[in-house]
Amino acid sequence: MNIAVLPGDGIGPEVTRQAVRVIEALDLGIAMTEAPVGGAAYKAHGHPLPPATLALAQASDAILFGAVGDPECDALDRHLRPEQAILGLRKALGLFANLRPAKVFAGLEDRSALRPEIAAKIDLLIVRELNGDVYFGEKGFRTNAAGEREGYDVMSYATSEVERIAHVAFRTAQGRGKRVCSVDKANVLETSQLWRDTVIAVARDYPDVALEHMYVDNAAMQLVRNPGHFDVVLTGNLFGDILSDQASMCVGSIGLLASASLGARQTAHGTFGLYEPIHGSAPDIAGQGVANPLATILSAAMLLRHSLGLAHAADRIEAAVAATLADGVLSRDLGGAASLAETGDAVIARL
Ligand code: IPM
Ligand code: MG
Repeated sequence: MNIAVLPGDGIGPEVTRQAVRVIEALDLGIAMTEAPVGGAAYKAHGHPLPPATLALAQASDAILFGAVGDPECDALDRHLRPEQAILGLRKALGLFANLRPAKVFAGLEDRSALRPEIAAKIDLLIVRELNGDVYFGEKGFRTNAAGEREGYDVMSYATSEVERIAHVAFRTAQGRGKRVCSVDKANVLETSQLWRDTVIAVARDYPDVALEHMYVDNAAMQLVRNPGHFDVVLTGNLFGDILSDQASMCVGSIGLLASASLGARQTAHGTFGLYEPIHGSAPDIAGQGVANPLATILSAAMLLRHSLGLAHAADRIEAAVAATLADGVLSRDLGGAASLAETGDAVIARL
């Protein structure tokens, strides 16, 4: 079993290091190989996703990814910016299904931005499409009829792209609360009308799953009004990006949300995928040893479960994280004072 470890920028390397320590502590006989990605790769090799990094990722059973983003690279041409590394990996590796679970940990209800009794009910999974939408449409700058400079990004979805992510959402819902809420903006966008029509058609294959539709503005409101309403939230690339950050603060911290990005390729023991915290590189706190590594550690658990078929090891990590939090080992984002290393140590001690 081979994992490609791509730490990236900002707090990426330090949170990834803690997740690697947790995997090593389980002594599972997994080989881990590191490669540069993002701004760090641009500075060292002139490209955010060097060919050697992509090749390593392709040859692995799974990828553990930190974060990319570096203010020093914000003025570069878009194709050289750190973010292109993660977008490029998702696209090149066909990782179209992004799973972002959001659940409140027992004892952390009062850390939520919501009232504790509302937060306590959160147990949802965002299924976000990752290979299409306005992220990957034609984009550029042009001069309009009035002679003014304008920017544009084309939003589109092909039926087959919606079908495959809808199947993921319905199948996943069958193993959870059997409810799918499809989020779109069909009252305004044709892309969303096609999305909605397609989801309705796919739903016929899953009579045991209840389907509802919600406009994205309403979904943003319901997510803070009554997040317990949601089981599986199925949505496109842009809306999923926004709603998952919002969901993280409903849970209590963006430092707690893990994610899996899966495609069609199977490994010897599961599905090939990339695993990353949903947070970014947080340059303001990078290198200070105060970041919360739990989202990355929880991403490592998802990796073991989905790509390596090691469900028992994943359960152990998740239980150790829950115990760490229940014991009051809280990093700064959760209102505590535990350092990055102390949080990592606490998880390892509870494995
Ligand atoms: C995420 C991030 C990325 C995205 C960025 C870094 C390109 O915000 O994974 O949510 O927009 O998908
Ligand atoms: Mg995001």
